[in-house]
Amino acid sequence: MSVQSTIKRKTAPEIRARKGGDPIVMLTSYHAHTASLVDRYCDVILVGDSLGNVMHGFETTVPVTLDMMILQGRAVMRGSQQALVVVDMPFGSYEASKEQAFHSAVRIMKESLCGAVKLEGGVKMAETIAFLTERGIPVMGHIGLTPQSINTLGSFRAQGREEGSWEPIEADARAVADAGAFSVVVEAVAEPLGRKITETIAIPTIGIGASAACDGQVLVLEDMLGLSPWAPKFVKRFGNLGPGIEAAIKDYAAEVRSRAFPGPEHVYGMKAKG
Ligand code: KIV
Repeated sequence: MSVQSTIKRKTAPEIRARKGGDPIVMLTSYHAHTASLVDRYCDVILVGDSLGNVMHGFETTVPVTLDMMILQGRAVMRGSQQALVVVDMPFGSYEASKEQAFHSAVRIMKESLCGAVKLEGGVKMAETIAFLTERGIPVMGHIGLTPQSINTLGSFRAQGREEGSWEPIEADARAVADAGAFSVVVEAVAEPLGRKITETIAIPTIGIGASAACDGQVLVLEDMLGLSPWAPKFVKRFGNLGPGIEAAIKDYAAEVRSRAFPGPEHVYGMKAKG
């Protein structure tokens, strides 16, 4: 039996094949409605664990659970049709062993129906990445600044700003690529390092605060729309929706209080007696 949908989603191998080609466009989304907008223009939608900050107001991504990722991953899959949807593996769901990672990734893929998972870490995660990819789970890596490690890093600081500190980050990039990841997010590294990694590894790099030379770029949707109260230096605000949304809420509250809303056009009249 063959089941074909009319619209074909992008796949991890297609994104892998974009190395050195047209830039890969990626944005985060956590909801069906924003996913349907992002889907029109992006190659990849990331259901990032940044939803812990954006949706839930946590200070870090550490408290995010597997169930939270699966729920929002499902919503994004329902809202999108053509982009590859990648769901982040949250802190604590994959680090203990490659078997733990496999079981968590299988839950994510079966329950959300997404096309790939993302996990943080380089050399230390290489064995896990190989284990997953050999078993049918496409993996996007994430190196440089890895926000899930905030409690050992101490702060969200850019990495590799002194040349002497490059080698471990370059080793992470090589390890992720050699392990079979189909692409890798490179977050908050010095620009020349982001460029060098892109030139030296065989898989596409997706930069966030890295380099314009990366094979693609990603931003958190709410940050680039101007909805987040604060955003890192590497965020360009392509919109400034925050003040507009606040103004709309203020107007609504005023109209409810003055009974201007709902107006006659927003209420139902009686049916004419027939
Ligand atoms: O969780 C997230 O949104 C991410 C991006 C910042 C790459 O990992």
